[in-house]
Amino acid sequence: MVGVGPRRQPSRKGSTADMPHDLLGEIKRLEDLFSVDTAKLKAITEHFISELAKGLSKEGGSIPMNPTWCMSFPTGHEQGTFLALDMGGTNLRVCEIILPEEKGEFDIIQSKYRMPEELKTGTADELWGYVADCLQQFIEYHHEGEKLGNLPLGFTFSYPASQDYIDNGVLQRWTKGFDIDGVEGEDVVPQFEAALKERGVPIKLTALINDTTGTLIASNYTDDEMRVGCIFGTGCNAAYMEHAGEVPKLAHMNLPADQEIAINCEWGAFDNEHKILPRTPYDVIIDKDSPRPGQQTFEKMIAGLYLGEIFRLVLVDLHSQPHVQIFPNQDISALQKPYSLDASFLSDIENDPFENLQETHDSFDSKLGIKTTKPELELIRRLTELIGTRAARLSACGVAAICKKKGYTTAHVGADGSVFNKYPHFKARGAQALKEILDWDKDRDGKKLGRGRDPIEILPAEDGSGVGAALIAALTIKRVQQGHNVGVRDPAGILAGCGPAK
Ligand code: BGC
Repeated sequence: MVGVGPRRQPSRKGSTADMPHDLLGEIKRLEDLFSVDTAKLKAITEHFISELAKGLSKEGGSIPMNPTWCMSFPTGHEQGTFLALDMGGTNLRVCEIILPEEKGEFDIIQSKYRMPEELKTGTADELWGYVADCLQQFIEYHHEGEKLGNLPLGFTFSYPASQDYIDNGVLQRWTKGFDIDGVEGEDVVPQFEAALKERGVPIKLTALINDTTGTLIASNYTDDEMRVGCIFGTGCNAAYMEHAGEVPKLAHMNLPADQEIAINCEWGAFDNEHKILPRTPYDVIIDKDSPRPGQQTFEKMIAGLYLGEIFRLVLVDLHSQPHVQIFPNQDISALQKPYSLDASFLSDIENDPFENLQETHDSFDSKLGIKTTKPELELIRRLTELIGTRAARLSACGVAAICKKKGYTTAHVGADGSVFNKYPHFKARGAQALKEILDWDKDRDGKKLGRGRDPIEILPAEDGSGVGAALIAALTIKRVQQGHNVGVRDPAGILAGCGPAK
């Protein structure tokens, strides 16, 4: 088969030789459904490029392409002490970051708090109350008894927010399964600040950022070849640095055409009109049953929140087919529970080192109460490979589209998130897809760049929502100090609250 990436871990051969016909037929059907060949990857990338441009136009498109008012890469000489708050999809993290004199260095202390599941569908007051309580706890723990001046805060709010200013952000829509009333269409900063004020927490928000913008800036701080920041985690998205002249929807701001401004693409919304992505019936169900049907089409095919659910839906569907003998006469009620399997369940299956897939057998038994046969295990393993490979290959289309749009023939792309960091083979499968999309001649390009290197490499990023948020706060304070206040709502407040940042 052409271009579906590595089929097997080298240590395990796998075998379909003694597979019953019904399961073999299903494996073939699933391969056809989930494989994305090179020609399709290229077509998706071309459409992606035009959609990125459309998002920057006055009329707009599906991909929001939000200007972030982060207006330069760091120099590496940013300094000061900052707080960073990271509200992602799964955890809440509070950090204190010291950017010292040494170029590209940082110190960080941090505390993590689990986002309680019920908060995601609770009320706005509960959400902001919880966030403010965590911040307060952090400050009390790390600065007990100190008289704390207002520390500048970079708040990483990893949802689509349109920003007229760096210190505001109107939530366009919740993603990643969040569904909290009273926040969509509202500026989240006053809601957050009101909760802080109620608790007497002495913090001034300097910058509201996206995790991808943080990743872009933090990665560029330590590697100036970094041009794109990506998250492949619970959700997925990317940010890159654009020239204002390429952003027609900012024409009214009269920025110099070569002024840099980071764009948070919000590419999870790519192809919401369903023109190009090879959606399966399972992707359609995921969308239909989600809190925001019709939104985040791309994300729902590749992000960590959905990989386990796609897998689960396929197995439930196969079990319901009279002509397929999978888990016959077994109680599959545990498997029938929506979102009961997360991406780590799939990772573990792909990582199962045993020829007889013993670990997979055991986890189906212990987690789902299902006893699996050898042929069933072979199908299960192949299904995880197909779902994981599709996610990596489609992700590469987004990266290739940004690089092609910007004309980058060589670049580093900083990536973070649980899928990128933990899902087996995600990096290699993504790199393979980039090679196919961009037609690299491995020998020639590899020689030019040095052994084993691709012209565009997706590499592990620095901590975007910690160090990146601090850096963006520092960059904002610096430009306000220099009188460059465009895209800043409260320059005086930021200066008053920022202490001695340099
Ligand atoms: C959000 C983005 C975020 C991404 C990764 C998506 O669901 O809309 O803002 O960058 O997840 O966390």
